[in-house]
Order: sequence, then C-alpha cells, then structure tokens
Amino acid sequence: MGKDVIIACDFPSEEKTLAFLDQFQGKKPFVKIGMELFYAEGPSIVHKIKARGHRIFLDLKLHDIPNTVKKSMAVLSGLDVDICNLHAAGTTEMMRAALEGLTRPDGTRPLLIAVTQLTSTSQEAMERDLLIHEPMEKVVMSYALNAKNAGLDGVVCSPLEAERVHSVCGASFLTVTPGVRFADGDKGDQKRVMTPAQAKEIGSDYIVVGRPITAAADPVAAYARCCAEFIG
Ligand code: C5P
Repeated sequence: MGKDVIIACDFPSEEKTLAFLDQFQGKKPFVKIGMELFYAEGPSIVHKIKARGHRIFLDLKLHDIPNTVKKSMAVLSGLDVDICNLHAAGTTEMMRAALEGLTRPDGTRPLLIAVTQLTSTSQEAMERDLLIHEPMEKVVMSYALNAKNAGLDGVVCSPLEAERVHSVCGASFLTVTPGVRFADGDKGDQKRVMTPAQAKEIGSDYIVVGRPITAAADPVAAYARCCAEFIG
C-alpha cells in the first residue's frame, strides 16, 4: 500500500453514500466507512462498496475489554476490509487481543491501526476531561509505541504528529492522518489540522479527508485537488 487519500464517507445512508460514489465514475477512491454509516446500514454497506472495487478503511474505533474486542475483531476480519482500527487508550493487552481476533486461520488479516488522541481533542480538553497532564505530543508518542509493541501496523494521528511517530516507531509504521483542510477551507470541529501538501511534506502515509471533499460544491474536483497536493 502506498500513499493515498482516503475519503471519509460520513453519510447517514447507503443511498446517499452510493450516490456520492457514483459521481467518481471510473475512479475508485479509498473509502472510509465510519460509525454513522455502519450503524445505519450494517455489514451490507461494506460488501456493496467492496463489490464496486473500492478499498475500505472500517473506522469503528473499538474500545472494550480485551475478550470482547478480540471476538468483535474476528467478526470484522470476515468483512474483507483493508484497514480496521481501535483506541490505543484501551491498553496494550486490548490491542494484542484485537490482533489475535483479526488474524484469519490462514494467517492473513486487514491492517490494524490505533487511534492515539482524536484530532478534535485539544491539550486543554485532554487535561480538563481526561486528567492527562502530559504534553499532547508525549501522549501520542507513548500511545503509538504501545501500538507498535502490541504488533499493530500504525496509528491514526494528527498530521502534525506523523513525522515524530515515524522517527519514534520507524518509517514503515503507518501514519493515517485525519484533520486535513485546504489552506482556504473551514476547520469545522477539528483542532489540529494541516493541508494535504503539508501532510505530504511531513510524511503521512494516508490522509483521511471528509468534509473538505464530501461537502464541496464539486467533490470530484476537491478529491483531485487533494490527490494532486498529497500524492503529486
Ligand atoms: O470531515 P473531516 O475531514 O473532519 O473528517 C475526518 C474523519 O476522520 C471523520 O470521519 C472522523 O471520524 C475521523 N477521525 C478524526 N480524528 C481521529 C480519528 C478519526 O477526525 N483521530
């Protein structure tokens, strides 16, 4: 897998999602299916998008006791997605269990990446609500190292942290970075953001882009702009 732009298809229904993807005609963008769409439509939306030839990042961010996560990951491994994820905050033990559950009897499995801190979380909110009083960067690096030690393939992190994650965890440890905005675009609820060009510069492996593409007047043009800036 090389550098790519993943479109966050945060839509409430199959109908809206497939209508959105229809606009791309011959192109097959890498698609992220999140909680909203998965909870609305269930596994059938994964099968339908996969059958159209898209690669899929199933972004369900699991976080529960190790045994529950292991069993849930075993179910997700049957969906033939390309990337799954969980919260690193669930501990190294939970991440190890997840990896075991995700691995099929023939040894194959989707990539598994961990969310470090959500890109919507500010230093202030982390201190106030989570009672974590370390600098954000230290927290993210520590969670990333836990994920690596558990055998995971990479992390979801802010593009602002991708370079440091690579230096701490190695160049082949994947950084998947949401919180991407065009220089002339709205930040919305994201706090720690970067442009696609800057994300390329600092070495993100994948950028996850939602509203800058899905809410654009011309989503296909916005996707092409993202790819031009990020992949070149
Ligand atoms: O619309 P926007 O570009 O902000 O969408 C970002 C996507 O990435 C959303 O689907 C969000 O759930 C997801 N995400 C995130 N921050 C993380 C992990 C996932 O924004 N740390």
